Amino acid sequence: MEKNAIKEALLTGAHFRRAIREYTDQKITNADLDYILEIGRMSPSSVGLLDWRILVFNDGQSWNEIRKHAWGAQKSIEHAADTFIVFVARKDVRYDELLTQNIKDRHLDPAVEAKVLNNYQKFQLNDMEIPQNDRLGFFDWAAKQTYLALGAMMTAASAIGIDSCPIEGFNRKEVNEILTQQHLIDPQKESAAVMLSLGYRLKDPKRPQVKLSKTDFAKFIND
Ligand SMILES: Cc1cc2nc3c(=O)[nH]c(=O)nc-3n(C[C@H](O)[C@H](O)[C@H](O)COP(=O)(O)O)c2cc1C
Repeated sequence: MEKNAIKEALLTGAHFRRAIREYTDQKITNADLDYILEIGRMSPSSVGLLDWRILVFNDGQSWNEIRKHAWGAQKSIEHAADTFIVFVARKDVRYDELLTQNIKDRHLDPAVEAKVLNNYQKFQLNDMEIPQNDRLGFFDWAAKQTYLALGAMMTAASAIGIDSCPIEGFNRKEVNEILTQQHLIDPQKESAAVMLSLGYRLKDPKRPQVKLSKTDFAKFIND
């Protein structure tokens, strides 16, 4: 595909994209959903840890249970989205937990492995300043990775005219309890991080898009 056509599709999508809370009945085709999920699957994660995954719901019984605890998704009850995605991140990503396993799976020379692990320990405790026993701090690091996929998937969706809304407005503890009851997460190791709705907008939002100007957004330093 020609470069300018790709740019045009992405830019048109970026200007078209809004946080959409009310949707039509139109279904997303399997092929389009596959494409959006694949873009998410390929998104990067810090140190390649692969510490998150997604749960994909249609507007059925399971999602309705979860939505009761998601105040940020209440507007889409009557005109619900076709698809809801819950991003689930690992809680056990400390240097001596999943990270150690991940490094061991690389089958490095023992001396190199020890050095890499030591570097990651310093990275997490010193550079990122996550206190050793701050379970929420470590989960938060894993949860940040999910936002990269969230953004990429919304961009991919908007480029083909599919609407979306990120959803942070939910009670994490309550949603985790429902997901555990539904046997969808292991609460010892995982937690809901963020959510996403996907579908086709019922109507355009009343308010225009509000964004920083190009100059306020990007300051160039040319020295
Ligand atoms: C991380 C994140 C979480 C959000 N959570 C919610 C939410 O729970 N419910 C909701 O209706 N909108 C939510 N939004 C949508 C924002 O309110 C919206 O993106 C913002 O007002 C800018 O509008 P625009 O997306 O139309 O440009 C969220 C947005 C982001 C980026």
